[in-house]
Amino acid sequence: MPNLTVGVLGAGGHIGLVQAAALASLGYSTIGYDLDLGRVRDLQKGKLPFYEPELAGLVQSGLKSKLLEFTGRVNRLKGIDLAYICTSTPSLPDGRTEILQVENAVTAVARTVQKRVIIVIKSTVPVGTARRLSLLLQQQGLSEKAVLVSNPEFLSEGSAINDFWHPARIVIGSAEPEAAEIVAGIYAPPHVPVIKTSWESAELIKYAANVFLALKISYINLVAQLCEKAGGDIRVVSEGVGLDPRIGSSFLEAGIGFSGPCLEKDLRSLIRQFNDAGEEAPLLEAALYINQRQRYLVVSRLKKSLGELKGKKIAVLGLAFKPGTDDLRDTHTLPVIEQLVSAGAMVTVHDPVLSEICWPRQMNVFLPELRWASSPYEAAEGKDALLILTACPEYRRINLVKLKGCLANPLIVDGRNLFSPGEMAALGIEYRGVGLGVETEAEVER
Ligand code: UGA
Repeated sequence: MPNLTVGVLGAGGHIGLVQAAALASLGYSTIGYDLDLGRVRDLQKGKLPFYEPELAGLVQSGLKSKLLEFTGRVNRLKGIDLAYICTSTPSLPDGRTEILQVENAVTAVARTVQKRVIIVIKSTVPVGTARRLSLLLQQQGLSEKAVLVSNPEFLSEGSAINDFWHPARIVIGSAEPEAAEIVAGIYAPPHVPVIKTSWESAELIKYAANVFLALKISYINLVAQLCEKAGGDIRVVSEGVGLDPRIGSSFLEAGIGFSGPCLEKDLRSLIRQFNDAGEEAPLLEAALYINQRQRYLVVSRLKKSLGELKGKKIAVLGLAFKPGTDDLRDTHTLPVIEQLVSAGAMVTVHDPVLSEICWPRQMNVFLPELRWASSPYEAAEGKDALLILTACPEYRRINLVKLKGCLANPLIVDGRNLFSPGEMAALGIEYRGVGLGVETEAEVER
């Protein structure tokens, strides 16, 4: 159906920009709308507000073909056939999800359009949101202008373009089967299961999926604790567990835990959704607790080896919440660095994607003493310890002999289990990972 015109609201954000660029490359005339006029101006010139592999090329070719445009004027959306709502849904201090931006975007579209449109909610919203918004449209006399469809996104940062083209499933929640049909027809590759269901089921699929991923990570981190007390190598345990096809091997990497703008936020939100429904969610609360604890464990490991951190020089590798992104939102790395700095340590950081130039200036208020290095070796130079916080592929390829030569004290605390304790021991490096326990000879050889 490429002769449709689509609007993407929140086109300056991660989900919105991927959605807009991909729709344009499918041949849809796509209007990306965002309230942030600075971002809109940059996007009009093909300049992206964040890093996402392959996205810049897709945006630039969309602009070149004139199928993609960016605007800060809502009126520009008046001729669209479909609107994708990709605005953010931040966490409130009590864990609840703020849906005001979604609500404003939905009503803005319904007020602006000249003919009836389908409004597709991509943003992650608590169960019941589409029904509430539909009621709101009705109360405002706008239900003739718009039909709501819930179509949650499942894009991971760092692989969002690939995830868009190769979805594991497409979930469409709708009260009108024809609207669901049209949304499915926009992009549904053959052999990809399409689940057409109610608004509520679609909204819950998104939360239940993200939270299940969080549970897997916290569970393996819990087992890692037992490895440290009783022996066993969590990497081997994970492998053995994950080979059961009923369980699967992904999201079983033990380490410092999950962070970023999605999993923790969605976990907190789902707990609130249970509480608001008068239910407890102890399983989810435990997962959150374990995840928080992982962040303190790495610092206590450093203290175990170094004693007091006051005056100690620490190199930190990795700032973003995961490899392949420059996203600092809700990253685990900042609370860890804050712990180090408040204990009196001097911290030098390296990240393959982020640099001092893109460091948000407001962060200097919390971390004024942060130093930057342009390579892991420069970061390690003269330091008392090195702390690995993000599993960047570049770090796996580090020359460990050279790295050891740079460190004043050969101590590596690894929050991502990138190396083998045996290899480190052979190099004379004190290596502390997560759940690597009491090593047996067989495990050291792996
Ligand atoms: C997550 C989901 O994976 C996507 O499916 C979803 O669409 C997205 O949230 C969203 O709601 O928008 P994302 O937050 O980009 O994607 O990143 P993940 O790949 O899920 O990683 C989250 C965190 O878990 C990272 O800090 C990562 O390092 C950590 N992680 C991941 C582990 O600690 N262990 C693992 O085995 C896997």
